[in-house]
Amino acid sequence: MNDSQAKAWNSFLDEVTASESKHYLWLRSLSYLEYIGYRKMVKALGYDNVNKGVYHHLTDEIQHSFMLRELAEKGFGRQKGESFSEAYQEVAEDYFQKIDGQIHDWVQGACGEENPLYCYLITSFIIEKRAMSVYPHYYHRLADAPSKMIIQKIIKDESEHLSYLEGKMNQVPGLDQTQADLLLSFEADCFFDYLRRMQACFQRPCAA
Ligand SMILES: [Fe+2]
Ligand SMILES: [Fe+2]
Repeated sequence: MNDSQAKAWNSFLDEVTASESKHYLWLRSLSYLEYIGYRKMVKALGYDNVNKGVYHHLTDEIQHSFMLRELAEKGFGRQKGESFSEAYQEVAEDYFQKIDGQIHDWVQGACGEENPLYCYLITSFIIEKRAMSVYPHYYHRLADAPSKMIIQKIIKDESEHLSYLEGKMNQVPGLDQTQADLLLSFEADCFFDYLRRMQACFQRPCAA
């Protein structure tokens, strides 16, 4: 993260943790991102790909989605605030879609054909890297025990997913450090665009 990215990220965290309704929407967005990740994995992986690592990864992600939604509803959803409208869902979907598309094209270029397993491995690796930056920073902003425990459990799972995927990266032909860095920097642009669009939605809840 460069200086301006760190500044944008910190000011985003300042904004969401200072407001119950924005905090609610942020947790719902995280929950939705976890759900999209789960759905994309199910779609990408064939029956034969479901091994122990994949099984754990899938069940953890859908659990994260549920836990974050519960946390949002129970911790911040009591007041009649804003709803997690389509505009917010679109912001999360676009973030994932852009990364998905870029990695799909990269795999097609590197392998000469589509390969859903490689797409799954690279996309998950890149998203887990982001998760291992987002959740620990967010964790340090939380004051109370129940939400800290939930985020801590998610961090533990995400760090296991990342180690698992790091160990698989050498299976992807052509993915050297330079290529991985390029894809990671593409993801960073998408993430900071996601933050900007979330903040725009906070100002104008009905706009996309
Ligand atoms: Fe997750
Ligand atoms: Fe994960």
